[in-house]
Amino acid sequence: MNLPALSTPRLHLRPLALADAPAFAAYHTDPEVARYQSWDVPYSLAKAEALARESEAAPLLGELWATLMLLAGETMLGNLSLHLTGHRTAEVGFTLAREHWGKGYALEGLNALLDWLFTGADLHRVHASLDPRNERSAALLGRAGFRYEGCSVQAYWHRDEWTDDAHYAVLASEWRENKV
Ligand SMILES: CC(C)(COP(=O)(O)OP(=O)(O)OC[C@H]1O[C@@H](n2cnc3c(N)ncnc32)[C@H](O)[C@@H]1OP(=O)(O)O)[C@@H](O)C(=O)NCCC(=O)NCCS
Repeated sequence: MNLPALSTPRLHLRPLALADAPAFAAYHTDPEVARYQSWDVPYSLAKAEALARESEAAPLLGELWATLMLLAGETMLGNLSLHLTGHRTAEVGFTLAREHWGKGYALEGLNALLDWLFTGADLHRVHASLDPRNERSAALLGRAGFRYEGCSVQAYWHRDEWTDDAHYAVLASEWRENKV
């Protein structure tokens, strides 16, 4: 299934394109943005371009991670990431450039994406995982209606330490109920 272009009152969401690569690499290189994420900084332009070329060639919701950019007018705010993890299930992630935190943009974009995943793509369950020290991300998931499902303790080795992995999910039925 093709990734969608979506609109909200303040935002436009569309698949990552090659022209986005410099800005994408720049905000991924901010140590505060990357703090609880898997990539190393600096995040190279070549890496961003490679991801963008894949996205342009096949802007699909599939097993590989795909990227939707979040824009307000011409301003690139950040991105949402998603991939299918099984029969009608998907995992999501989110990253905003630091200057755009604290304005509700991630929530607005994530809500639009969930709406499409549960209605347009007919998914049953959407989930996310994070380092429990990532408080802004945990708060965002709570606001978006995700349930905390538990935490895998010292689940993976990251930046010279064993790191916990907190799990969150929302079902289509919960999403519909929250919407009422
Ligand atoms: C995780 C991340 C996307 C959250 O961004 P965010 O801006 O805090 O999230 P939201 O969109 O929910 O915005 C909430 C804030 O906007 C404020 N806000 C302002 N206007 C608002 C509006 N119109 N609607 C909703 N909230 C609004 C809220 O009060 C809240 O402020 P607070 O954080 O001071 O309490 C961001 O911190 C980030 O990119 N982090 C680094 C990447 C990362 O770790 N990603 C997670 C990997 S799992």
